[in-house]
Amino acid sequence: LENGLARTPPMGWMPFERFQCTVDCVHSPRDCISESLFKRTADLLVSEGYAAMGFQYLIIDDCWMESFRDTITQKLLPDRERFPSGMAALSHYIHGRGLKFGIYHDVGRKTCMFGGPGALGHFQLDAQTFADWGADYVKLDGCYATGYERDTGYPAFGKAMNRTGRQMVYSCSWPFYKEKPDYRLIAKHCNLWRFATDIKDSYTSVFEIMELYRRNQQQLLAHAGPGRWNDPDMLVLGNFHLSYDASRLQMAIWSVIAAPLIMTNDLETVRPEIKQLLQNREIIAINQDLLGIPGRCVRTSKHFQVWLRPVTPVNDLGKHSFAVAFVNRGNFSHCPLCPRQFEVVLEHLGLDSPTGYYVVDLFKSSRHLGMFKPNDAFSTRINPEGVTFYKFTVAPLL
Ligand code: DGJ
Repeated sequence: LENGLARTPPMGWMPFERFQCTVDCVHSPRDCISESLFKRTADLLVSEGYAAMGFQYLIIDDCWMESFRDTITQKLLPDRERFPSGMAALSHYIHGRGLKFGIYHDVGRKTCMFGGPGALGHFQLDAQTFADWGADYVKLDGCYATGYERDTGYPAFGKAMNRTGRQMVYSCSWPFYKEKPDYRLIAKHCNLWRFATDIKDSYTSVFEIMELYRRNQQQLLAHAGPGRWNDPDMLVLGNFHLSYDASRLQMAIWSVIAAPLIMTNDLETVRPEIKQLLQNREIIAINQDLLGIPGRCVRTSKHFQVWLRPVTPVNDLGKHSFAVAFVNRGNFSHCPLCPRQFEVVLEHLGLDSPTGYYVVDLFKSSRHLGMFKPNDAFSTRINPEGVTFYKFTVAPLL
């Protein structure tokens, strides 16, 4: 969507995978969807250094609203007990921390999980309500609507947002609900769009989403770029089930495919080594690369995959630099979960600049591996269900 926003993939935080639809604040005071969770997270985004790395959008997901509209104005209402100060106040608090405020809604009759009032029949009123609350980002889910209602509703809600005059990033779940999404159309109307099912806190889920991207990458790539991004769903790092290697894997691949980096975790309990991954400056720079060309999987087998993204700088021959991720899927008959060596001649991956490439290991900041020419073999040892990730910076012409 050409609205001047999301020129690089949005970065931020959303509660859904970690906190689900916890509404019982009596038994789960720290985990319930409430203004105190968002205020605490806003504070931590800043104090723990995430905001400075670019994690800007604090986005409320489902389960924030009352189950009814205001009887007189028909406006949406935040749950009185869990959001006692109201949304304008929460938004003000978030803005006061230098962050941006996002909110969830549904294009149909009801929201997906909570079943709160959906937008259908109230597009302009709801878009205006969000604008009045100072929203900077709207995630529009697609439950309880017919195919026709979604196909007309997503563009119409976008227009309603536009009419408010407030600049708001538009995140659509539209293709997730379609068998054969028209990505050209979706990219015209949305800043980002969910193309896969809800992510879970596991390697299997991360890998399944990678596979879905890989199988559809031709199409997915064609319409993504500045202002319009494929959204494979949240970063689940920092929770319970991703190993350290799988956490590296998600960071690397989400950066290669230019995915929004939207964490879902409890920022108070993220382990230090995972926080370091989330705040890896060089990897974030790959994700946010200004060329805005999303990457792809260029090699796949039962055991290995190679993923590659063209990035800056570009040399005078017009040759790009590249971020390259090597994945060890395991599946070996002897020791399926062992580290393995993988070797490839660079020009076979399309790295063909005669000037060569300076190589840096992105997980070991500033570990320089020297200069490689296109006909050199590059060898890397990859942990099981893990990844190694390098930047190949193209050398200039002398
Ligand atoms: C489905 C979406 O895909 C999730 O990300 C989340 O927003 C839930 N709905 C909430 O009901």
